[in-house]
Amino acid sequence: MEFQNLLITNKGRIQQITINRESKLNALNKDTLAELHTAIAEAFQNPEVGGVIITGAGPKAFVAGADISEFAALDADGGTQLSRTGHTEVFDLIANGGKPVIAAVNGFALGGGLELAMACHIRIASDNAKMGLPEVTLGLIPGYGGTQRLTQLVGKGKAMEMILTADMITAGDALQYGLVTHVVNPEELLSKAEEILNKILTRAPLALAAAIRSINAAYTDGVNGYETEVAEFGKCFGTKDFKEGVAAFMEKRKAEFKGE
Ligand code: COA
Repeated sequence: MEFQNLLITNKGRIQQITINRESKLNALNKDTLAELHTAIAEAFQNPEVGGVIITGAGPKAFVAGADISEFAALDADGGTQLSRTGHTEVFDLIANGGKPVIAAVNGFALGGGLELAMACHIRIASDNAKMGLPEVTLGLIPGYGGTQRLTQLVGKGKAMEMILTADMITAGDALQYGLVTHVVNPEELLSKAEEILNKILTRAPLALAAAIRSINAAYTDGVNGYETEVAEFGKCFGTKDFKEGVAAFMEKRKAEFKGE
C-alpha cells in the first residue's frame, strides 16, 4: 500500500511507521489520520508484523499536533465528529490493539502528537523532545484522548497543570512524570525502541495481547479489571504457546512461540 504522508519500513517482525510531513512538523491532517488508520489496521492483521514503532520524520518533531489549518472550518458538530472519528479510527485502535506499539518521540509531541504517543503502549523519547497539550491556547481542549490518558499516566495534578497552563515539558520532566520510560540521544532513539520491541517479540504473542487487554481493563469504565485478568489468564492455558513455554522451561531450552 502506497501512502502520501507515511513511510513504512520493516525490519524483521518490527514495522516502523514514520509520519512524513516534515515541512508541517508532521501535523496530523485528515489524510494522515486516514492513512494511519489503514497502516495500523494492516500492521495488526499482518502475521509477519509482531509490533510497531511510530515516529516522526526529521530531527525536529514527532508530531506537532492536529493540523490547525483544518480546524477553522469546523462548528460544534464538526468538532465532535472529528474527535469521535479520531478516537475510534486511530487512537483507540492503537491502544486496544493486540500487538505492542512503541512511540519513539523524536522532537515536539504536542496536542494530537502527544495524544498519539499516549495511545501507544510504551513511549521513549530523545533528549531534545518537548511534550505538551497546548489546546487551550486555541480555545480548545485535547480531543483525541489527552484529558484521559495524560491523567492516567501522570496523575490528576500534573495533568491539570500541563493542560491548563498549556506548557511544554522537557524529555527529562516526562521521564520523571512517568510519561516516557526512557530518554536517549536522538541517534539512539530508534535502536532503543527496536531493542525494547525485539525483547517483547521473543515473548508469547497471545500472552502479549492478553496482557495488553488486561492492563487496559484497569482504565475502562464498567469493566472489572480483576475479572478481565482471571478470564485472560485462563484463556492462556488453552494456547499452544503456553504448552510450548512450559515445555521449553522444563527442557531448559528457548521457547519457540507461534502465536497459537
Ligand atoms: N498544524 C498545522 N501546521 C503546523 C502545526 C500544526 N499543529 N505545527 C506546525 N505547523 C507548521 C507551521 O505552520 C509551519 O508551516 P509554514 O512553514 O507553512 O508556515 C511549519 O509547520 C513549521 O512550523 P513553525 O511554527 O514555523 O516552527 P517553529 O520551530 O517556529 O515552532 C512549534 C514549532 C511546534 C512551537 C510551532 O509550530 C507550534 O506551536 N505548532 C502548533 C502546536 C500546537 O498548538 N499543537 C496543538 C494543535 S491542537
